[in-house]
Amino acid sequence: YAIAEECGRRGASVTLVSGPTVLPDPFGVTTVRVETALEMEAAVASAYEACDVAVATAAVADFRPQTVSAGKIKKDDAAAQLVLVRNPDILAGLGQRKGTRILVGFAAETGDPIGAARAKLDAKNLDLVVANDVSVPGQGFGADVNAVWFVDSQGEREIELTSKRQIARAVTDEVVRMLGERHTGNREA
Ligand code: C5P
Repeated sequence: YAIAEECGRRGASVTLVSGPTVLPDPFGVTTVRVETALEMEAAVASAYEACDVAVATAAVADFRPQTVSAGKIKKDDAAAQLVLVRNPDILAGLGQRKGTRILVGFAAETGDPIGAARAKLDAKNLDLVVANDVSVPGQGFGADVNAVWFVDSQGEREIELTSKRQIARAVTDEVVRMLGERHTGNREA
């Protein structure tokens, strides 16, 4: 939400595809509300066509139940086990049809956030991964502050504990820098 707001504030035309949250729609941004990973995949696919930059911040569930009941499941009828199937990796799909777009992913990790981020950078064909260590209490999920590393093909840069608004500004600065580089590169080519 902070990134969508910041990009909108700087004059970008922004579509925010959001799963369920109590956060209100940001001002100046088109917000599309979805509930499932499959709905998110479809909403993202239609917004992706016309976009120059995609930033994937959602913590999408990796699995979904194979069957969904329309009504209440009575305890006597309930299966003892839920069968789960894989959800699509939405960002990896975007990476496969990236064209000239800039793609930014997030990595919520425990252990080695920078190593995991670098692996995602390659595997999903990204330009930047914002990595954070979700094992540290009081930051990241459910908090207004975070500490992150920016990981790209050039190296990594630490952003120490700060507000998500400041992190959103730093992410947007990076995106603007990359757009500028691409623009200059295109002109030279
Ligand atoms: O592979 P991992 O889930 O750790 O990668 C995280 C990145 O991939 C985030 O940018 C997240 O928004 C995106 N993602 C996705 N679809 C999924 C899972 C993750 O787009 N099913």
